[in-house]
Amino acid sequence: MEVAGLDNNQIKVKSLKAGSTPIREKDLDKLLKAGLASHRLAFTTNYKDLVGAELFFLAVGTPSLTSGRIDLSQIKSATDALAAVIEHTDGYPIVVVKSTVVPGTARDLKKRLETLSAKKAGVDFGVCSNPEFLREGSAIHDTLHPDRIVLGVEDARTSRVMKDFCKRFYGKNTPEIVETDHSTAELVKYASNAFLATKVSFTNLMARICEKLPQSNIDEVAHAMGLDPRIGGLFLEAGPGFGGSCFPKDVQALVTYAEGLGVDSSFLRAVQKINETQPNHVLSLSKDSLGELTGKVVAVLGVSFKPGTDDIRESRAIKLIEVLLRDGARPRIYDPNALENAKEILGSSVTYCKSALQCIFGAEMVVIMNAEPEFKKLKPEDFLRLMKQPVVIDTRRMYRPDEFDGKIRLISVGRSGQVQ
Ligand code: UDX
Repeated sequence: MEVAGLDNNQIKVKSLKAGSTPIREKDLDKLLKAGLASHRLAFTTNYKDLVGAELFFLAVGTPSLTSGRIDLSQIKSATDALAAVIEHTDGYPIVVVKSTVVPGTARDLKKRLETLSAKKAGVDFGVCSNPEFLREGSAIHDTLHPDRIVLGVEDARTSRVMKDFCKRFYGKNTPEIVETDHSTAELVKYASNAFLATKVSFTNLMARICEKLPQSNIDEVAHAMGLDPRIGGLFLEAGPGFGGSCFPKDVQALVTYAEGLGVDSSFLRAVQKINETQPNHVLSLSKDSLGELTGKVVAVLGVSFKPGTDDIRESRAIKLIEVLLRDGARPRIYDPNALENAKEILGSSVTYCKSALQCIFGAEMVVIMNAEPEFKKLKPEDFLRLMKQPVVIDTRRMYRPDEFDGKIRLISVGRSGQVQ
């Protein structure tokens, strides 16, 4: 197989050609360099270089508009540019829509391609909706080991070519291929992400209940629930809420889309509400030991939306820091990967630290926001020795309460009684 990657960002393409990727993921650089060395992988900014390809994977961004709808402008401009490529490509080129798009998008794209290329879908070219389910940070693994492949196809030739392609790519490890029409495939992506987000918010709601019960622990509740195969044990980890470039955007897009169809979305709005209020809720847990936050030095460990990434999009830590600032606290922050990105948003409003130990120095409260392995290495003695007043909020339950002696107030999200 030969692959050409196109982007209209010249700087990105230049650095990819040089073997460097803007995305942080283990082994991605290695894979990129191997592809370039084999001369089977190339990058370009010029659509003309794509003429003659058999499959065109469309994976442009679909960000949120302020109305909550998704912005399809990148899909539209890429479709227009692809129409000229399709026009000059013989055989049966297929446009595969990977981007997350609301139902109806692939059909509109198909019509637009027909109009602009003067070719006929199902006769001269095909369109396939093929949502991806990759997680940031494990995209290579998720690409190579998918749980399922969803193909939204509406003509027999596209169906045949796409299934052959998947079988060639995955061989005997080909997972179940679910073949549907375009709109169903498009909805599967939103339904999947909204359901996973629902699991997280549901768990955070249960965590709030656990906090009020004697000797209760959300992890035990989640574990016991998850043993039921109808529920499943994944995405039942309580914390500060979900962030990232997908869940918040996709839930919002689904709400807006459903309401546009006249479908009541209060269920999904409740999922959003729990998520939006969770950073405030986390801080409220410290009220009885810390009182008002005005003037207090608060250390925040973990700024990215999940460990191991520099991505701070919709990160709950950023929301929490904004609440701290609004309440007059003085945040000190540390993250092994995400401080550069945090600086772009938070500017000089917080103190940036070079290590977890430096960050907790002189703090009156520490909030652990993501489960970076290095935070687990902090010992009760470190908090006692370095903090002005040892109050620790552990949103990810990294620390065992019995390892902290009574001198440290350990407050764990989802654990009862805020045991010492
Ligand atoms: C997600 C989907 O998992 C993926 O299938 C889709 O293609 C893109 O969106 P990603 O955004 O990379 O992937 O992050 P994910 O690992 O799913 O986590 C999303 C957020 O939920 C993070 O903020 C994470 O901390 C939070 N989360 C996840 C929890 O709080 N608890 C959990 O149990 C799981």
